Amino acid sequence: MFARLAFVLSALTAVALAGVAAPPQCDRYYVVEAGDNCDIISAKTSSSTYQLARVNTGIINSQCTNLTVGELICLGLEGQDCEVTHVVQSDEVCVDIANNAGILLSTLLANNPNVDSQCSNIYPGEASSV
Ligand SMILES: *[C@@H]1O[C@H](CO)[C@@H](O)[C@H](O)[C@H]1NC(C)=O
Repeated sequence: MFARLAFVLSALTAVALAGVAAPPQCDRYYVVEAGDNCDIISAKTSSSTYQLARVNTGIINSQCTNLTVGELICLGLEGQDCEVTHVVQSDEVCVDIANNAGILLSTLLANNPNVDSQCSNIYPGEASSV
């Protein structure tokens, strides 16, 4: 009875695993240093503010106030790790950033789902994917 039940469970597990791709592994790691915040880490490592937050959901809080020195964090997942970034300067708007990177504004917005369609919520020091 128990042996039969165990077999059914493991068979179901095998089917479930076969049908689902393995979760992406971390592509790049970073050890938090004194004085770091998420914008500093993004700029230092060319990982966008959005990507850093996305990869660390449940690990770093949304205000990025609970990093601890020595903590190992993931910067990007394999196959989804954009390393071409730009740190927003004061007076810059999305069109300037897209033009300077040689990409369409729509591509910039698609690569940075955290930026609203009016580009009204970027701020100097933020690292965007281009
Ligand atoms: C930071 O905040 C996240 C999200 O609330 C939480 O899951 C995580 O445990 C916190 N980390 C530390 C070191 O407190």
